Amino acid sequence: MSRKLVSVYLFMLFVITKCYLLGVNGETKNYYIVFVGDQLANPESKASTHIGILSALKGSELDAKASHVYSYTKSFNAFAAKLSESEARELSDMDGVQSVILNQYRRLHTTRSWDFIGLPQTARRKKFESDIIVGVMDTGITPESDSFNDDGFGPPPAKWKGSCHHFANFSGCNNKLIGAKYFKLDGNPDPNDILSPIDTDGHGTHTSSTAAGSAVHNAELFGLAKGTARGAVPSARVAMYKVCWASSGCSDMDLLAGFDAAIHDGVDIISISIGGLTGIYTKDTISIASFHAMNKGILTVASAGNDGPNFGSVANHAPWLLTVAASGIDRGFQSKVILGNGKTVSGVGINGFKPEQKLYPITSGTDVAINTESQDIAGYCIEDTLDPSKVKGKLVQCKLGTWGSDSVIKGLGGIGTIIVSEVFLDTAQIFMSPATMVNSTTGETINKYIHSTRSPSAVIYKSEEVKIAAPFIATFSSRGPNPGTKHILKPDIAAPGVDILASYTPLQTLTGLKGDTQYSKFTIMSGTSMACPHAAGTAAYVKSFHPDWSPAAIKSAIMTSAYFCLGLHDKARQMSSRVNKEAEFAYGVGLLNPRRAINPGLVYDMNNMSYVQFLCHEGYDGSSIASLIGSKSNINCASLLPPLDSKDAINYPTIQLTLKKNMTTTTGIFRRTVTNVGQAISIYNATIRAPKGVNITVEPMTLTFSHASQIRSFKVTVSAKTMASTKVLVSGSLIWKSCRHVVRSPIVVYNPQD
Ligand SMILES: *[C@@H]1O[C@H](CO)[C@@H](O)[C@H](O)[C@H]1NC(C)=O
Ligand SMILES: *[C@@H]1O[C@H](CO)[C@@H](O)[C@H](O)[C@H]1NC(C)=O
Ligand SMILES: *[C@@H]1O[C@H](CO)[C@@H](O)[C@H](O)[C@H]1NC(C)=O
Ligand SMILES: *[C@@H]1O[C@H](CO)[C@@H](O)[C@H](O)[C@H]1NC(C)=O
Ligand SMILES: *[C@@H]1O[C@H](CO)[C@@H](O)[C@H](O)[C@H]1NC(C)=O
Ligand SMILES: *[C@@H]1O[C@H](CO)[C@@H](O)[C@H](O)[C@H]1NC(C)=O
Repeated sequence: MSRKLVSVYLFMLFVITKCYLLGVNGETKNYYIVFVGDQLANPESKASTHIGILSALKGSELDAKASHVYSYTKSFNAFAAKLSESEARELSDMDGVQSVILNQYRRLHTTRSWDFIGLPQTARRKKFESDIIVGVMDTGITPESDSFNDDGFGPPPAKWKGSCHHFANFSGCNNKLIGAKYFKLDGNPDPNDILSPIDTDGHGTHTSSTAAGSAVHNAELFGLAKGTARGAVPSARVAMYKVCWASSGCSDMDLLAGFDAAIHDGVDIISISIGGLTGIYTKDTISIASFHAMNKGILTVASAGNDGPNFGSVANHAPWLLTVAASGIDRGFQSKVILGNGKTVSGVGINGFKPEQKLYPITSGTDVAINTESQDIAGYCIEDTLDPSKVKGKLVQCKLGTWGSDSVIKGLGGIGTIIVSEVFLDTAQIFMSPATMVNSTTGETINKYIHSTRSPSAVIYKSEEVKIAAPFIATFSSRGPNPGTKHILKPDIAAPGVDILASYTPLQTLTGLKGDTQYSKFTIMSGTSMACPHAAGTAAYVKSFHPDWSPAAIKSAIMTSAYFCLGLHDKARQMSSRVNKEAEFAYGVGLLNPRRAINPGLVYDMNNMSYVQFLCHEGYDGSSIASLIGSKSNINCASLLPPLDSKDAINYPTIQLTLKKNMTTTTGIFRRTVTNVGQAISIYNATIRAPKGVNITVEPMTLTFSHASQIRSFKVTVSAKTMASTKVLVSGSLIWKSCRHVVRSPIVVYNPQD
């Protein structure tokens, strides 16, 4: 992951520079996505309408064609064009144009993990699993990888309309990897990538093998994490839509083209580990594209982002997405460090190097600065601040500044690196030389030792697998509250996203850092990027049992069945506010539990109109909602508004009440319906857990069902007193219990901080 986080940082710099350049030159042309109403038109007439609109703007068809980049005609009615800012503004006022969105670049946000969450290889499976297609939006894929071996697979299901051609450096598809396409509409050459669905980064290979990879025995990295690597649905098919590029990231234009193709091709579930922008729902490409996918019965599963642990950092928070946080599993990777005085300490990370000597001289970055002026910065082991003659042949202790100080030290002839950090200690970074990451207490111990003797020495051992307490939510995993609406709890759920072993590309070294020569078929990555395909694979697993369930029903089944903290399950698998003080804002409903998700008893179902009602209720106007859903005529919100006393119009499987600052007591009424998908005749009783200072009532307290698919309604009233300003949230839950099922919804009371 750390490499991923590095690219995140670099990418942020890239974005900032780019914005600045645009700011100083108003007439710079940029890419825009233009949404046009009327989904019903056929592809040809959509495309000619697009040229028509551009011709009206530009005054000539020739100029229109020069500015036109791409027409989205399959699942959307939209086009991409190169325009100046003033042209974009003019366009947005033109007849037939619904909205104009500036194309922006997003960033990428991996096998024991399946056993840990209780989906063993022997789990019950449906033959229908091989008809399920998981579409992945990512950096491409490695077709030769064992994870995409098609031994024993028949031809793709008949509904599949996708394709896979022969591309540069791409050996082609098979009956496992049934589709591969790439989208790079900005036309800029990418010296670090190949115009082909081939994965030169490793991220896409990793995420797709996690979601739906075939089982591969004896997977490992440096002998670590040994086991069988596999996806949630090893018999399912994979389709890759490459929308992310090594140098530029993932652009909105390409993403939309990927969704346009995937929806048309007939994928069942979309997995997208990309994010970073949190726009309003009607202006955000992922939210618009996934709404259209939902309309076609496809659930989109997305990563929550790696901007934690700050409150309000969660991305991809539209209510029709399943938003996934990253949790740790019970396995960590640590290295022993032995100091010359015999003291042993330990650090975190993955290094595959066995020491050749018993001890090496050790120093600290500050002590080997190239001159006194650069002493402070040399503490972070930044290139050009260190004196190579003093580094050569030594271990160097560095503070965590930029990533890759192990690369810097190795480049200067050093033996290895001890990195001192307060963050990222819950994930194992891969090193390209003997290295480990220690906390500041341990760092201080080592520093004292270095300065306590004339010739300090130490040795860093090869990493070992250790058992650690789990689950916990990774520090990096983005937290709620939802910045898009105060009525919906996000993230939805947590899934394993720390130190995940999965397939990798042969076209990239393990660290991607200068001087690294390590390659591997498998690698270990961390990020909500790795959590997302666990949930996407689980959604595919649920769909293989219930092919006719709506996206909302699949999502509800996954959410109400999660592992949580009530002692009903294995203690070691509890999510708890004692471990994660951000509680539900860190883990949503709790930890993914695939085996229970296929048999939830009840589901909170919704159709597309529920979301439209929700948007009306949130204050979106009829014309912007029309642009989101691609309707020609405006939506008449007045006719759609929900009952006035209801706090939210949406049948969400979780409940969030946001306190009003000017009231001593805030009361919310939440109307919900559940559909019986369990035994025809069943009785569910409500169990309420209310936190201190909060009253929760449910009416009725018993739901009686006499047949399958029967719908029952109930009303939850939540009253909460003003809380101390230091408290961000308190939570309780509503559980519907029958003899066979436990259907749990957390109830969160959020205390806004400003
Ligand atoms: C891609 O293929 C071209 C032509 O065969 C070859 O020259 C190039 O080295 C390949 N690139 C990679 C990264 O394999
Ligand atoms: C620092 O790491 C050491 C060794 O892993 C551990 O025992 C100690 O509790 C840690 N200290 C803090 C403050 O986290
Ligand atoms: C809802 O879905 C149905 C069936 O797919 C479709 O016909 C209808 O246009 C959709 N409505 C909206 C508002 O998207
Ligand atoms: C509290 O503020 C909201 C809007 O900020 C307002 O609608 C409401 O009337 C206020 N309530 C009281 C009791 O002042
Ligand atoms: C909860 O109910 C009790 C008993 O009816 C009442 O005294 C208390 O004020 C209520 N608290 C809230 C927050 O409504
Ligand atoms: C539900 O409550 C009723 C009445 O209290 C009780 O008879 C029944 O056993 C309960 N059912 C379950 C599944 O707990």
